[in-house]
Amino acid sequence: MTECRICGGVVEEFLDLGRQPLSDAFPRPADVDAEFFYRLAVGRCVACTMVQLIEEVPRERMFHHDYPYYSSGSSVMREHFTRTALGFVETELGAADPFFVEIGCNDGVLLRTIAESGIRHLGFEPSTGVAEVARERGVRVRTDFFEESTAVAVREAEGPADVIFSANTICHIPYLDSLLRGVDALLSPGGVFVFEDPYLGDIVEKTSFDQIYDEHFYLFSVRSVQTMAERFGFELVDVERLPVHGGEVRYSLARAGARQPTPSVAQMLAQENAQGLAEPEVLQGFASSVSRIRDDLAGLLRSLRENGKTVVGYGATAKSATVTNFCGIGPDLVSYVCDSTPAKQHRLSPGAHIPVRPSEAFAASYPDYALLFAWNHAGEIMAKEEQFREAGGQWILYVPEVRVV
Ligand code: SAM
Ligand code: TMP
Ligand code: ZN
Repeated sequence: MTECRICGGVVEEFLDLGRQPLSDAFPRPADVDAEFFYRLAVGRCVACTMVQLIEEVPRERMFHHDYPYYSSGSSVMREHFTRTALGFVETELGAADPFFVEIGCNDGVLLRTIAESGIRHLGFEPSTGVAEVARERGVRVRTDFFEESTAVAVREAEGPADVIFSANTICHIPYLDSLLRGVDALLSPGGVFVFEDPYLGDIVEKTSFDQIYDEHFYLFSVRSVQTMAERFGFELVDVERLPVHGGEVRYSLARAGARQPTPSVAQMLAQENAQGLAEPEVLQGFASSVSRIRDDLAGLLRSLRENGKTVVGYGATAKSATVTNFCGIGPDLVSYVCDSTPAKQHRLSPGAHIPVRPSEAFAASYPDYALLFAWNHAGEIMAKEEQFREAGGQWILYVPEVRVV
C-alpha cells in the first residue's frame, strides 16, 4: 500500500506507464548500460485527493550539474516570465527594500527582470550548470535545494521574503511538508507564496499523459492544493489558469486569514466538482484514453514506416521520454529528434535511444513527417518552421488525440 506524501492517506494507483528512465538524462552511446530506471505509476489519495507518483526518484539523480533543461530556450516562456516578474514589481514589491525569492530559478529566465529592476532577490537552484548561467545574467543564486533548513538559513541571514515564487518546480518536490515549513519560516506575515505548475484538469481533459514523468511528482488540482495549504497553516487566496506548457494553474497562498480569497477559487472548485476531477471513474477514463493514444500513435508510426515515409521527432522534451518508452517508439520509427539545446545534442534520448540532433539538421533535409514532442510550444515552433509545411511536410500531434496536420 502506498501512503500519501502529504497526508498519509491511502494512494490508489490508476495508471501504470511502465519502466521508465530519468526523463532529462540524455546518455552518450557509451553510457546506455548505466541508465537508471524506475516504475512510473500514478495514483490518487483517497483522503486529500492529491494525485502523485507511486515511486519517488532521488532528487540528486534528477537535479545536478548537468541538468539539461534551460528555461530561456523558448521565446514565449521568456515573455511569460518577464510579464510575470513585472507584475510582481507593480503589485507586491512596493514597500521599502522588498525581498523576492524564487524556488527553482533555473537560468534566471524570471529573476533577471527582478534583478534589472534593482530588487533584492535570491534564487534557489540546485542544478549548478543552469545556476551558473543565471549568475552570468546578474541573478543572485544559492545552489541549494529549497527545504526547511535552507529556508530558515536565508530567513536568519536576510530577513523575511515579501514574495516566494516558483514555476514548474513545486510539483517536482515530494517533500512538500519540509518545503511548506520552509515557506512558513521565510515568508513575511503579509507575504504571498505563488507557484504555477501543470494542471490536472488540463491533463485529464487533453489526455496529456506525457506530463507524467519522474520530475512531475504531483499533478495538482485546486482542491488538492487548497487542502494541502490548510494543512500547513496557509490559505489558497487566488488561482489563475495559464495557457503555457499545455495548461497550468498559478496558485497564490497566504497565511490563513491574511488575505481575502478571490472569487476565482470558489469558481474553479465548482468547476472541478462538475468535471468530477477527483473521482476515481474520471481518472480510470483518463487511463483508458492513454492506452488508446498509445495504440493510435504506435499504429500510425508503423504504417508510415511500412509506406517508406520518413519521420523525425521535434523537441527532445522530458515529456517525450514517457511517450517513447510507453508507446515503444525507438529509432526504427523515429529516426532522430531535433532540439535546440546544446546539452541534449549528440546524445541519445532517455531509454528509447533515439539520436538527438541540432535543430539545423531538420531544415537541412526535411522529413515527410515531424512528430511534435514539444507540442506545448506548437505556435512558436510551427511559425519558425513554416518552410517545412511549405515543402510538403506534415506535423503529427498526439494531444488531445493522434492526428496529422
Ligand atoms: N522555473 C523554471 C521554469 O519554469 O522554466 C525552471 C523549471 S525546471 C523544470 C525545475 C527547476 O527546479 C530545475 O532547474 C531544478 O534544478 C530545480 N529544483 C528542483 N528541486 C528543487 C528544490 N527543492 N529547490 C529549488 N529548486 C529545485
Ligand atoms: P519543454 O516542453 O519541457 O519546455 O521542452 C521543450 C524542448 O524543446 C527543449 O528541449 C527545447 C526544445 N525546443 C526546440 O528545440 N525548439 C524550439 O523552438 C523550442 C521552443 C523548444
Ligand atoms: Zn493525501
